Amino acid sequence: MRLIVTESYEQSAYLSAQMMLDVIREKEDALLGLATGSTPISVYKYMAEAARQKKVDFGRVRTINLDEYIGLSGEDPGSYLYFMRKHLLDPCQIPPKRVMIPDGMADVQEELHRMNQFADANPSDVQLLSVGVNGHIGFNEPSDVFYDRFHAVKLTQKTRESNSRLFSSMEEVPTEAITMGTGGIMRAKKIVFLATGDEKLDAMKKILEDGEVTPDCQGTILKFHQDCTIFLDQALAEHIRPAAYVEVKRA
Ligand code: GLP
Repeated sequence: MRLIVTESYEQSAYLSAQMMLDVIREKEDALLGLATGSTPISVYKYMAEAARQKKVDFGRVRTINLDEYIGLSGEDPGSYLYFMRKHLLDPCQIPPKRVMIPDGMADVQEELHRMNQFADANPSDVQLLSVGVNGHIGFNEPSDVFYDRFHAVKLTQKTRESNSRLFSSMEEVPTEAITMGTGGIMRAKKIVFLATGDEKLDAMKKILEDGEVTPDCQGTILKFHQDCTIFLDQALAEHIRPAAYVEVKRA
C-alpha cells in the first residue's frame, strides 16, 4: 500500500484523476472501475476536463460501476447511473454500450447474473474507490464475511443516514443495493483510493494502521492489494500512523 499525503482534497482528486488517465493512455480500451459519492466528484471533474481538452481519448474506454440502489431507475437523480452520467459518462461521451452498472429496476437475480458474467471475465484495469463511514467499500457493509462477487445487500442505518443528504427525505433513501463483492474489487489490477473529512478517520486508521484485516471493516482487505495508492489530505493524514509496510510520500 502506498499513501500519498496531499495539501488538500482538490490535490488528492487531481492526482487520482491523473492516475486514472494514465491507465487510459496505456490501454485505450481500459476498463475503469468507478465509484460514486461526494468524494470522487472532483476526480471526475478533472477527467472530464482532460476529455474536453482532448488530452486523452475516451473513444474506446469501458466502465463498470461498483454499485446501484435497488428500486431506483437511471432517470432518478438519486441513482448512481444518473450520478455517473452527470459527472463523467456524458461529459466524456461514453455511450451506454460501454457502461456496466447494475440496473436498479431489473430482476435482482438476473441482474446479478449479468454483472457477474461480465465481471468474472473482465477484471478492471483500475478501480477508483472511497470509503463509507463504517469502512464499507462499494456497498460491502460490515459483516462476518467478505463477499466475492456481485450480490444484493441490505443497507445499514448508518449508511442510509450518511447517504440521505442526497435525497429529499430519509424515507426516500433505498434500503437495498446491488454491489460488487469485495473479492471483485480486489481483482482490479490497480486501486486508486481517496478519502477526506473527519468522519472517515476511524475507517482510514483501520485501513492504514497496523491491525487486523476484518470483514467488520471491509476496506481493511486493501492491505492485501498489490497495487493500491491512497490519497489523503494532510488534515486527515496527520491523525494516522501508517503501518511500517505502507510506503508514505508527500505529493
Ligand atoms: C456510498 C458508496 C460508496 C462510497 C460512500 C462514501 O455509500 N456506495 O462507494 O464510498 O458512499 O461516499 P462519500 O464520498 O459521499 O462520503
